[in-house]
Amino acid sequence: MNTIWNTAFSQGSEQLISSAIRELLKITEHPSTISFAGGLPAPECFPNIELTVAAERVLANQPMSALQYGPTEGYRPLRGFLAERMTGLGITTSLEQIIITSGSQQGLDLLGKLFIDPGAVVAVEEPTYLGALQAWRPYRPEFLTVPLDHEGIDVAVLEKMLRSGKRPRFVYVVSSFQNPAGVTLSPARRQALIEMAAQYDLPIIEDDPYGDIYYGGVRPKPLAALDCELSGELRHVVYLGSFSKILAPGLRVGWAALPRELVGKFVQAKQGMDLHTTSLSQIIVYEVCSDRLLERHIPAVRATYHARRDAMLEALEQHMPFGINWTRPNGGMFLWLTLPDFLDAANLLNAALDLQIAFVPGASFYANGGGNHTLRLNFSHPTTTRIYEGVSRLAQAIQTLRNKTVREA
Ligand SMILES: Cc1ncc(COP(=O)(O)O)c(C=O)c1O
Repeated sequence: MNTIWNTAFSQGSEQLISSAIRELLKITEHPSTISFAGGLPAPECFPNIELTVAAERVLANQPMSALQYGPTEGYRPLRGFLAERMTGLGITTSLEQIIITSGSQQGLDLLGKLFIDPGAVVAVEEPTYLGALQAWRPYRPEFLTVPLDHEGIDVAVLEKMLRSGKRPRFVYVVSSFQNPAGVTLSPARRQALIEMAAQYDLPIIEDDPYGDIYYGGVRPKPLAALDCELSGELRHVVYLGSFSKILAPGLRVGWAALPRELVGKFVQAKQGMDLHTTSLSQIIVYEVCSDRLLERHIPAVRATYHARRDAMLEALEQHMPFGINWTRPNGGMFLWLTLPDFLDAANLLNAALDLQIAFVPGASFYANGGGNHTLRLNFSHPTTTRIYEGVSRLAQAIQTLRNKTVREA
């Protein structure tokens, strides 16, 4: 039926599609389903008590600033705290270069609003974060996909593309413990990418919500830090950070560290989007951060996810049939599984749901199609017991599909 609203839609709105993951989450809410599908932090890892105490204190002591409209740029003390934290990571920034966002997801949308005209070329990893594709598709870019391997985005392929005359508006990189593939850009490739950015005037968006969740001894050095080393200040990289994985995603507090020349436009774009990020959340986050909660809490989050990653790797070794490969993430919340070419992950999902196990088929993370025999597994949300049980059921579903496919061939 044609309604007045149908004819009123913009062309960009045709590109608005539901995230496969959010749709899948609705099916997998049943408690007996073991879900590796969502990208959810473990609720056991939320610092409930500290956040409750801080919320009560904020509302009792400064209700006017917590409940009133605030500046678009964000709560000044929190910006100051983050500028110091970024500088500690080698991303030398002043308070003015830090803008608080409503999650890093909003940062992605704002950057799309600022940089993407219809038909503009945007370079993304293949596979890439689905939420970035969702944010940018309505602006109607042409996605240039750059493959990744166990060392992250293949910079040699990107350079070939640049040499052949392709000029993306920016390249989008989830540099550490990538969502969805779990891989981390190697130090050599980081260096090569930042030099390429300088040589070709290539803007980089570095999305780093998982950087703090490392299982080895050291946090990978952000591309933004290498940019500061190379250029003396942040010049080629926009860095997006988030409290979602280190405190709680329901707070909806993230931030962008921006080259100075971008700050004004970024703030104007945010003014039109939501005026400002929730003041109450920002002040609560500042309160717990200034009580040094991150120093106490992040190691506990790392330990929990590390144990869950180990459980998933061990279960995969134990149960997976021959011919299945997977990544071994050194941090973050996801790993990536590759099936033999003749098995389709969407068909596998049907077989898996019959056994009450869920995951996200990898095709969702491919900007231009493909990836039909890949899938993403989340290990941060299920407990280790459920991880062992779920991987065993997944292996069973693979066997069932393999037998069926062989029979039908
Ligand atoms: C790579 C990546 N970027 C951005 C986001 C959005 O996070 P936030 O909760 O900060 O909006 C996520 C969430 O899963 C993510 O994985």
